[in-house]
Amino acid sequence: MKPKSTNESRTITTDMVLPSETNHLNHMFGGELLARMDRAAYITARRHSRRIAVTASVNHVAFNTAIPVGSVVTIEAHVSRTFKTSMEVFIDVFLEDRISGVRTKANEAIYTFVAVDDTMKPVEVAPIAPETEIEKQRYDAALRRRQLSLVLAGKMKPSEAHELKALFE
Ligand SMILES: CC(C)(COP(=O)(O)OP(=O)(O)OC[C@H]1O[C@@H](n2cnc3c(N)ncnc32)[C@H](O)[C@@H]1OP(=O)(O)O)[C@@H](O)C(=O)NCCC(=O)NCCS
Repeated sequence: MKPKSTNESRTITTDMVLPSETNHLNHMFGGELLARMDRAAYITARRHSRRIAVTASVNHVAFNTAIPVGSVVTIEAHVSRTFKTSMEVFIDVFLEDRISGVRTKANEAIYTFVAVDDTMKPVEVAPIAPETEIEKQRYDAALRRRQLSLVLAGKMKPSEAHELKALFE
């Protein structure tokens, strides 16, 4: 299959944080952010594969910054790498300063989706062509993350995770 550009499937959503989406400290619930990230990542996986996509794994989430009520939150999702039927999607979360309008990165996550047909059978997806330096770094590291995720899920033997093992040698 012909490689596709990350821009063909990149998804950007912007929304604010309502009081009903926060905890007693008036910070956004982690689960609310996970759901927003899942939706943006799903749209990205669907745009890339032009198939139904299901979340196979949440590989990494970093809640580095608390998000106060009333914040304007922008979520950017892009496909960082594809394998045969699976797609790793990287999600960056930004907050917008109310006065200056400057965006700062608050959180990030990495999800894995699998493209499936109407019977839920995994189907092949096109490769991705990373363009920017950061997209290339994320592409290179995706193989190690896939191996870690599969080992943790009991779907790969640690002895077969060669790229992952190489990190510790
Ligand atoms: C995701 C799902 C389709 C995978 O089915 P499966 O029987 O494991 O299929 P396969 O073994 O053929 O794996 C399919 C792909 O998923 C990848 N995969 C499966 N589990 C994974 C995990 N934990 N981490 C990373 N990749 C994973 C496999 O490596 C494979 O990728 P590849 O084709 O690119 O090499 C199946 O588990 C499923 O339908 N899960 C429910 C999905 C869902 O409902 N999500 C919403 C959350 S409630």
